[in-house]
Order: sequence, then C-alpha cells, then structure tokens
Amino acid sequence: MARDRVVTPEQQSEDREPAPMQVEGGPALRPVRMTEYVGQPDLVERLSIALEAVRQRKDTMEHVLLHGPPGLGKTTLAHVIATEMGTRLYTTSGPALSKAGDLIGTLTRMSEGDVLFIDEIHRMPAAVEEYIYPAMEDFKVDFTVDSGMHAKVITVGLKPFTLIGATTRAGLLTQPLRSRFGISHHLDYYGTDELLVILHRAAEKLSMTDVEPDAFKEISVRSRGTPRVALRLLRRVRDFAQVRASGKVTGTVVIEALALEGVDDHGLDELDRKYLRSILETYGGGPVGLEAIAATMGDDASTLEDVVEPYLLQSGFLARTRQGRCLTSSGYELLGASAPRDLFE
Ligand SMILES: Nc1ncnc2c1ncn2[C@@H]1O[C@H](COP(=O)(O)OP(=O)(O)O)[C@@H](O)[C@H]1O
Ligand SMILES: [Mg+2]
Repeated sequence: MARDRVVTPEQQSEDREPAPMQVEGGPALRPVRMTEYVGQPDLVERLSIALEAVRQRKDTMEHVLLHGPPGLGKTTLAHVIATEMGTRLYTTSGPALSKAGDLIGTLTRMSEGDVLFIDEIHRMPAAVEEYIYPAMEDFKVDFTVDSGMHAKVITVGLKPFTLIGATTRAGLLTQPLRSRFGISHHLDYYGTDELLVILHRAAEKLSMTDVEPDAFKEISVRSRGTPRVALRLLRRVRDFAQVRASGKVTGTVVIEALALEGVDDHGLDELDRKYLRSILETYGGGPVGLEAIAATMGDDASTLEDVVEPYLLQSGFLARTRQGRCLTSSGYELLGASAPRDLFE
C-alpha cells in the first residue's frame, strides 16, 4: 500500500530523527543552523533578513506559514528558526489540538520569543482557531469560565511569541488565519544538485566513507525532489553496500539497491506506474476523473491525490485538465506506448 512505499514523502518511523541536541539514537541529519539549510534560496533569504532585523531590534519574529509537499524541510526550518533566535520550540499539530485548553496551556507556559510550531495547521479544529486569533494578534487569550448567568470572560496576557504553521494544503486554511501570518512561503521541490549536497553531508554524518564521486547522482535523480526520500534511499543504499559490496558505494551498487526497492530511474515506484498504466489501459490515456482511476486501482482517491499525483504532475508524466487526468507525451513514452497524434499539451 501507499504507506509502505520507499518513495513516500510522508514521514515513516524509520525517518524519525533524534532532536538535534540529542546524541543517543544515532546522528541527527537535520540541519541545525540556517547556513546548513540547503536550497530554498528565496525562503532562506527572507527568513535570514527577518531574523537579523528582530535581533537588532530585540524584537520577536513575525508569525510564519510554511506550505508545500511533505518531506521538503518545513519542520526542520521551525527548529532552525528557534535555534537562530536562541529560544525554545514547542511542537504540536492541528489534529492534536482537539481542545482549546491544551493550546491555552502551552501558550501561557511559553516565554518571550519562544516558537510554537503547529504542524498540519489546516487540520486545527475551528473552535481552537478562535483562540489563536487574539493570541497571534495581541498576545492574549480570552476564555469563558462558568456558564449561564455566572459566565465570565477572563483575559490572560501572553508573552510575545512566534507561531510557525506548516501545511501541505494551504488552500484549506481560512482567510482570517492566513492573514495573521507576516511571512507566508511555499517550499518547492529540490533540484538534483541540492539533493546531492544533502546526500553528501548526510553520508559524512553516517560515516559512509567509501563513495564513488558520481554514485549519489543516481540517488538524487530518483528522490522525487524530496530530501526525506533522498535520505531514506541513502539508508537503503548504505545497507545494501554494506552487505553486498563490502561498504563500497558505486553507481552500480546504487542502481542495484534501488532496483531491489522497485524504484526506477525516474524515481517512480510500482504504485506510480500502476496509476499511469490504469489511465492508459482502462481509459485510453484519459481524460478521466480521479474517482474512476481510484476505483479501477482499488485504491483510495485522496491517497492518490496526496501521494501519487503531485510528483507525476511535477515530473511531467501526467496533466490535470478540466476534463480530468491525462497522460502527457512523456507519460506515453514511459509506458512504451505511442501518444495519439492529436495529443494536446
Ligand atoms: N533544506 C534542507 N537541507 C538539509 N536537509 C533537509 C532540508 N530539508 C529537509 N531536510 C531533511 O529532510 C528530512 C525531512 O524534512 P522535514 O523538515 O521533516 O520535512 P517536512 O516537515 O516538510 O515534511 C529531514 O530529515 C531533514 O533532515
Ligand atoms: Mg514535518
């Protein structure tokens, strides 16, 4: 199933890293400082300017909204920002905030300049969101004690803090919530050169010393523009090299290791290919609706939309039109079929 794919951008238990300061449990691969954060140059520049400005003014950083596909470094950036400000990071997530009381508890405990990171902020319940507005805007929370005739509204002041929200679905955020973020930025897929830098740094931390110069290129082109996928493939390659090639990582070793995982030279796995094949074989290449494809594959439409389609669209094998999903000429080519003459692209 989709969840077990080696190329899934979503976090799996094996990807979990110890906190940067923690030594036990293996080396942390996450960058700790802004200068170690690879890629996303526009975002890094915006944040570095904001950080420098608040440092000079001895102020608190504006609230930041990070949006983009999973595995591109949103959580990492929240840690980096707190480290750069020399403050603490409190982490929670939209679905975990089921009661407003939990949020208020955390907010009142935070010291000046601390960072509250809310992952999957689009899944925060509406009732909790109400409390977030005055907290973000005026650093206060209002809550009601008792009920009926005895109901009283109590206002509690908070220390100025920075909220960092992360979401894969910025479109699902309400306008009032969105408008309260001073900085809002979309993270893009990484280029293969950026992934190479990330891979080489990680290999060093993992004490992989015997690596042929071009070997990691084969990993980076198969990583779907996603650091999390690149690092996961790197771990599979490390195991394979250790057991089958006495630790030596060559291009051939990488290709063999990843072929064993069912990842082809575009970074596509069996689920991606099955998706493209159903469009070709059952629907003549499209256009076809997502629900129909999902039914043919016996898979869940929203899973396909979240974990299969983004990369196929990004890499140009699939197009989304008003009439539905269709294969592009590269999509036909990938499947060894010839594109219809009237293919419109
Ligand atoms: N810009 C980057 N530079 C180096 N490593 C990165 C970068 N972005 C992400 N990573 C690595 O990729 C993994 C996934 O990043 P994460 O921040 O958890 O992604 P997200 O929160 O967007 O899903 C982390 O283990 C991190 O080490
Ligand atoms: Mg994350």
